[in-house]
Amino acid sequence: MQEEERVFNFSAGPAVLPVPVLKKIQEELLCLPGCGASILEISHRSKQFGEILAQAKANVRELLGVPENYKILFLQGGALTHFAMLPMNFIRNTNKSGNYLVTGNWSKKSASEAKTQGAVKVIWDGKEEGYVRKPTDSEINITDDAAYCYFCANETIEGIQYQSEPNVSVPLVCDASSEIFSRPVNIEKYGVLFACAQKNVGPAGVTLLIMRDDFVEMSGDDLPSMFSYKKLAEKDSMLNTPPTFGIYVTKLVTDWLKEQGGLKAMHERNLEKAKLLYDAIDSTDGFYIVHGNKEYRSFMNVSFRTRDEELDKKFQEEAKALKLTNLAGHRSVKGERASIYNAMPREGVVALRDFMLDFAKKNA
Ligand SMILES: Cc1ncc(COP(=O)(O)O)c(C=O)c1O
Repeated sequence: MQEEERVFNFSAGPAVLPVPVLKKIQEELLCLPGCGASILEISHRSKQFGEILAQAKANVRELLGVPENYKILFLQGGALTHFAMLPMNFIRNTNKSGNYLVTGNWSKKSASEAKTQGAVKVIWDGKEEGYVRKPTDSEINITDDAAYCYFCANETIEGIQYQSEPNVSVPLVCDASSEIFSRPVNIEKYGVLFACAQKNVGPAGVTLLIMRDDFVEMSGDDLPSMFSYKKLAEKDSMLNTPPTFGIYVTKLVTDWLKEQGGLKAMHERNLEKAKLLYDAIDSTDGFYIVHGNKEYRSFMNVSFRTRDEELDKKFQEEAKALKLTNLAGHRSVKGERASIYNAMPREGVVALRDFMLDFAKKNA
């Protein structure tokens, strides 16, 4: 299949990857330079893979400004595994609790998984309002026994995003799955920041964790090795066979991000792309309804709907015919969702914007 046949893929994840990265994978797939074999075939203990892992880590450190007292881990199991592993390591068998801010489906799921491991206190829950916003700092009351305050930086399903981190007195633990590398962050505010790869980093199968040394130290010694962050960190993500292909693609994507000018430049581009869509939506006199409150609208996942489900269906069908695909909203929110991650080109967003304006005019 040729490049011209590619659609604009608005999938929430696994999601669009940068075309230069896909081409590089294609170019190197049969034979990794200097290796005589494919990345899919070489040992994780080989010199070549060691270099890829080291470069992927160096890129993450550089792009996010990760201080030296943080470990960078590439683990498996997706984000969901870490919903349970985090409390398993930091609150199980302690007299501490995890404080959770529930702003949508993903933080809700995380709190519910955490409950299987220890004391969880949901200190703010946006359910009654329909998950349309994040809490303000004055609404967050950290409990005395809190080991950490957990939040989801960007709720992928509802399209709700924190503009800045919650301002709290305890370390933050953050699920940044659907926004990592979309903007600069101050890692020093975090005990742990983690993200599954398949939205803004690489393919499904690798999960990136950035963990402060005191959290690594605090983690469970008594746990089976694969569940202990301490043991995983001691072996530099190589306690067992790591997701080698995913780490390789992460290296390529982070190389690409550096070429694009880093996270400040990506942030500016992402804000501009999101503005194209939200301005169009706001210009249609209520034809499109955005799920979240205006101040909390995500610049990664634009979640919206029309006045009824039939029209939503028509929207998605007509969009697909124009090669604008995977626009159906999540089943819990319905309507449409346009995921416009780093790798979604501006032309794709412009094409969607133009279609949205045209569709609104014809169906008002
Ligand atoms: C914010 C967020 N957290 C967690 C997940 C779950 O990740 P995984 O499927 O890798 O477990 C997703 C998406 O699938 C997500 O969007």
